Amino acid sequence: TAIQRLDYTAPAFWIDTVDLTFDLDPAKTRVLSKMRIRRNMDVPAQPLRLDGEELNLARVMVNGGGTSFKMEGSQLVLENLPEGDAPIDLEIFTTCAPIKNTQLSGLYVSNDTFFTQCEAEGFRRITYFLDRPDVMAMYTVTLRANKAQYPVLLSNGNLVDSGELEDGRHFAKWVDPHKKPSYLFALVAGKLVAREQQIRSRAGNNHLLQVFVRPGDLEKTEHAMNSLMASIAWDEARFGLSLDLDRFMIVATSDFNMGAMENKGLNIFNTKYVLASQSTATDVDFANIESVVGHEYFHNWTGDRVTCRDWFQLSLKEGLTVFRDQEFSMDMAGSTSARAVKRIEDVRVLRTVQFPEDAGPMAHPVRPDSYVEINNFYTVTIYEKGAEVVRMQHNLVGREGFAKGMKLYFERHDGQAVTCDDFVQAMADANPESPLAQNLEQFKRWYSQAGTPRVAAQGRYDADARTYTLALSQSCPATPGQGDKQPFVIPVTLGLLGADGSALPLQQQGDAHAGGTERTIVLTEPRMEITFVNVDSAPVPSLLRGFSAPVVLECEFSDADLLNLLAHDGDPFNRWEAGQRLGLRIALGAIANPGVTANAQGDVEQSVLPASFVQAMRDVLRNPSLDAAFKELVLTLPSEGYIAEQMDEVDPQRIHTVREAMRAELAASLHEDWIQAFEDNQTPGAYSPDATSAGRRALAGHALNMLCLAARRSGDTLWPGKTYQRFKDAGNMTDRFSALAALVNSGHELARPALERFHALFKDEDLVVDKWFALQAGTSDRNGNILPAVRELMKHPDFQLKNPNRARSVIFSYCNANPGAFHRADGAGYAYWADRVLELDGFNPQVASRLARAMDRWRKLAEPYRALARAAIERVAAKPDLSNDVREVVTRALAD
Ligand code: ARG
Ligand code: ZN
Repeated sequence: TAIQRLDYTAPAFWIDTVDLTFDLDPAKTRVLSKMRIRRNMDVPAQPLRLDGEELNLARVMVNGGGTSFKMEGSQLVLENLPEGDAPIDLEIFTTCAPIKNTQLSGLYVSNDTFFTQCEAEGFRRITYFLDRPDVMAMYTVTLRANKAQYPVLLSNGNLVDSGELEDGRHFAKWVDPHKKPSYLFALVAGKLVAREQQIRSRAGNNHLLQVFVRPGDLEKTEHAMNSLMASIAWDEARFGLSLDLDRFMIVATSDFNMGAMENKGLNIFNTKYVLASQSTATDVDFANIESVVGHEYFHNWTGDRVTCRDWFQLSLKEGLTVFRDQEFSMDMAGSTSARAVKRIEDVRVLRTVQFPEDAGPMAHPVRPDSYVEINNFYTVTIYEKGAEVVRMQHNLVGREGFAKGMKLYFERHDGQAVTCDDFVQAMADANPESPLAQNLEQFKRWYSQAGTPRVAAQGRYDADARTYTLALSQSCPATPGQGDKQPFVIPVTLGLLGADGSALPLQQQGDAHAGGTERTIVLTEPRMEITFVNVDSAPVPSLLRGFSAPVVLECEFSDADLLNLLAHDGDPFNRWEAGQRLGLRIALGAIANPGVTANAQGDVEQSVLPASFVQAMRDVLRNPSLDAAFKELVLTLPSEGYIAEQMDEVDPQRIHTVREAMRAELAASLHEDWIQAFEDNQTPGAYSPDATSAGRRALAGHALNMLCLAARRSGDTLWPGKTYQRFKDAGNMTDRFSALAALVNSGHELARPALERFHALFKDEDLVVDKWFALQAGTSDRNGNILPAVRELMKHPDFQLKNPNRARSVIFSYCNANPGAFHRADGAGYAYWADRVLELDGFNPQVASRLARAMDRWRKLAEPYRALARAAIERVAAKPDLSNDVREVVTRALAD
């Protein structure tokens, strides 16, 4: 049942126009589809096979008359269509039941409102169609519904007609001026209100922007609207890409499987990525909204105008669009330091989520070769690694060169459905002298080979010759189905630091002029050496600056080297990285040290942190020239998941114990500094989610967390008391929530009343209630015995398994984000996971399959975890009527 990339063939028919009429009714929606199709004369004549799923077929007509047809599986097959290339009129009348659609794919109802989600293959759940992205049609859509219940009727493009019908019904007719694949179709119908904004573009055109939400949520749409306006301006300024529609709409729904969807002119969003007010949303929420609004808007060109030929090319639009939204967020953040903070955050996601994926059973290339269920391939590899592959191209051709490549890409492919190869080819052709063009075929291995490459670096200083030679070598571990890997093209941006931390001028052997303090070496061979001359003393190499390639860098730094880099590196990313390497080294050492033991409360009493590390962290906290956001990142130890990835055999409890010991020691040893950091980083005055203010709040919140953690051991009551006060008085959700989290995560007795108060205050705010659930299911308090509390949370009247956000807030927070509590020696966490996967799979396979991924790395677990994990996965796999989605994940997890 797996679909292979190399089996691609062009469609046998094209659909040039489609005219859809919907009579919207939750129990029985009637869909009339009138298509003008024609044979694709480039391929051998064959029957027309239309995709369909859970549809009731009422009528099929060809050129106005009856026709013979048959069903093959879920496909509608027409064998006797007229021959030749003349257009054929095909009319299909079906019904479906949106109210019964619990998968949230296709046409469904949420809060009495109709929504659609068609990517990747949801359109076939609405009508029979060639539901594949290389079939692009012009759409006309007429919506008819009861006017009182569904006053707002929306679809893609421009509203060309609307009016009254009999029996209290009304209609709206929409025409999309651009052709598009079916996955970009959308409709919305219900009681909604809109924030509206007229804008005039650089190009001088007027556009109407609308953000639709439920009545009552309107005041929470200002930030989304501002983000949309900023996105439009940014794409024009940076890439010369203008909005190509008179009207651009965003609609928010609280029932949504993913983040958001880029339907042409009618983006549909999870409320989480639209609604924000200072009292209900945190700084992180504000930043996510800006980024997701940008992402979906940028798809208008990279995705909608130029789309994917087939779903194996998904990263063509997703990797590129993530790269674009990352650049947008960086440009919005402004300062060099704020850009670096965003870069660090993005790399952290890549390394903590994508690297494990690339090392586990679901590893796949950025352009996969096969899949069973395409919904399983909306992954961090397609998105985040795909973005890194685009970023490497950006760095290899330069900023101007990249803009030229984008221009050529659109000149060549506007209105087409193309491949990843077409994109790189345009980049290379626009920059023929670049290292990308010179190594094009080899560079493309980033698209075809899975796995995270390793780059080993070894430096050798020759005092007599005053040279420094750096040997770089690369390798890549095997991944499922890919044993041997060929060398990649790896850009390594580097600099050298003197013993005093100064940036050394770089002069390569054979290179006449010394130039600057940073350069990018392109590693293409398995191994290479470069020699720098005129080096006065042994330098410390600063390698892979800005994370110039998505690889694991192995280099034997001494502690002194890392302390030097942490204190002085001119590259903020590597400064942060040096601190992470130090922290990781300490963690791995303590984990392996049998002398480090926990008492009955699970606390480690002896010191695990070298004084030099504590001092380095103190220096960072006290450094007046560093931004608060950057300090907060440096002071955050590598996550438990990241530490686990560095080990061959993982005892999650042990990792948790040691990391908590490190945190507790940082909390106690830097007590005065945390107080200072807290007091220095208040943000009085009007709330603003800008990067500087958000960074201050992040550091103050972190400080509070540490102060409460220290209080847990010292018995201090001052700071927990102050934290409770701050929780009560906070003027924004960021401060309120970080105070609440500090109490909950330190297990303080004030946590209970604070949680109760929080719920009472925000019980009518769904997104805040999600946070309330997530905090409790994700906390590591109570010595990891969180499972009983998680079960209780599921009995709470506000818990709803059918709502994806709510399900995620409890179940995913526990299974994915709380390793110290999830991995239990009795296997009860795994049993809970299996129960929830099976339960969710009964009505929403996409959400179930995401949860199934929580066990990806089970093979690395130490006993008894490993055997218990296997048993839980096997129990899931044994269910006979499992969805394709979950079956693919558990089958791969169990495959040897
Ligand atoms: N294209 C959407 C985005 O990147 C996500 C769609 C995900 N679809 C899915 N079936 N998982 O914003
Ligand atoms: Zn996307």
